[in-house]
Amino acid sequence: MSLEFPGPQAVRKLKPGKLVIASHNEGKVREIRALLEPFGIEPVSAKELDLPEPDETGTTFFANAELKARQAADLSGLPALADDSGLCVDALGGDPGVRTANWAETPDGSRDWTLAMRKVEDALQAAGPEAGRDAHFVCVLALAWPDGHVEWFEGRAEGTLSWPPRGTVGFGYDPVFVPLGDTRTFAELDPAEKHAISHRADAFGKLVAAVF
Ligand code: IMP
Repeated sequence: MSLEFPGPQAVRKLKPGKLVIASHNEGKVREIRALLEPFGIEPVSAKELDLPEPDETGTTFFANAELKARQAADLSGLPALADDSGLCVDALGGDPGVRTANWAETPDGSRDWTLAMRKVEDALQAAGPEAGRDAHFVCVLALAWPDGHVEWFEGRAEGTLSWPPRGTVGFGYDPVFVPLGDTRTFAELDPAEKHAISHRADAFGKLVAAVF
């Protein structure tokens, strides 16, 4: 498995047919389905195939995206697409970054996004006002084929963090992320507006240009 940015690779086209969305995160699956809709792809989620959720043991977005896509492709015999994403806050040296989902973990093993947003806000307050509130979302999409071939696509969305959380659409940290050039949080945009500017849409645009 690669641990660093894999660099330019050979590009393989994706033929119409079944594609596993290697994620158990319903918010991500919903967004990826909407993004795939125009391309003659039949998305099937890891949950529908009853595939296990692998431990995200990688230390980069690339490594974690690859391990999720690789496992789903190996187990299903189909091409598989995985997303590893997270929120990187400048004042926190890029945290929570690759550990974004872990910041939401509760003692009983469930995930609480209000708690996660509160932790980020507390860390920002501790860093002081001069540290600023700039942040960006990163999304790395990995597309793996059963024969071992893999491609990666990276996207970003720049913005700032606001407090308190606002809006009810979306998932995860959407209620505190205000994209550059807007005053609304991601959770106050309608899905089509978010899809036009999000880190996932940015990565997806690169995937579409390369593989369709
Ligand atoms: P992972 O990629 O499964 O490790 O999880 C990344 C976490 O980052 C998600 O569970 C979300 O909380 C957060 N995240 C990723 N993309 C978004 C987004 O578009 N909006 C809000 N939160 C996001």
